Amino acid sequence: MVVGKVLFSPEDIQNKVMELADEINRDYRGSELVAIGILKGAFMFFSDLVKHIKIPLTIDFIIASSYIKTDTTGEVKIYYDLREDITNRDVLLIEDIVDTGITLNFLRERLLSRAPRSLKICALLDKKDRRVVDVPIDYKGFEIPNEYVVGYGLDFDDQYRNLPYIAIFKKKV
Ligand code: IMP
Ligand code: MG
Repeated sequence: MVVGKVLFSPEDIQNKVMELADEINRDYRGSELVAIGILKGAFMFFSDLVKHIKIPLTIDFIIASSYIKTDTTGEVKIYYDLREDITNRDVLLIEDIVDTGITLNFLRERLLSRAPRSLKICALLDKKDRRVVDVPIDYKGFEIPNEYVVGYGLDFDDQYRNLPYIAIFKKKV
């Protein structure tokens, strides 16, 4: 397996992050936010995004996974859960990529059961063709084709998360 074509450079990513932060700053003006990052994949996106959010915010994380290598198992496991009480608060769930939608849908329903005032979703990448469960993405970075990607937090077998760009991951020919 090799790192192939670069889809988004560090500059492309930062520009998009700032666009998304502008929208979020506009929509949440006057309120306070609980920003929740879904680890491990969203760690870079999350930290870059919150740097540009100008409204009062607290942060928290969920560690969840349904993937083994490049395949979803369809079953979402929670390895670390929120410490914040989100009841009656405005929550923004921040994810790296929406693929089948199973992970986000599962987490969304889980969080909604704790009665937040609002719950919105921000995802950097959307692999639309792969969607199995419909899940609303309120703030979306880029739509990408049905290719496995790595970098900027995204992994293959827990590697390549540190790459500053996002690239297609290919089987060697
Ligand atoms: P879903 O449940 O199928 O939507 O998968 C979402 C999760 O799978 C994301 O949070 C990622 O961690 C992981 N994932 C999906 N597609 C990719 C990819 O192309 N590269 C790396 N991770 C991916
Ligand atoms: Mg993820």
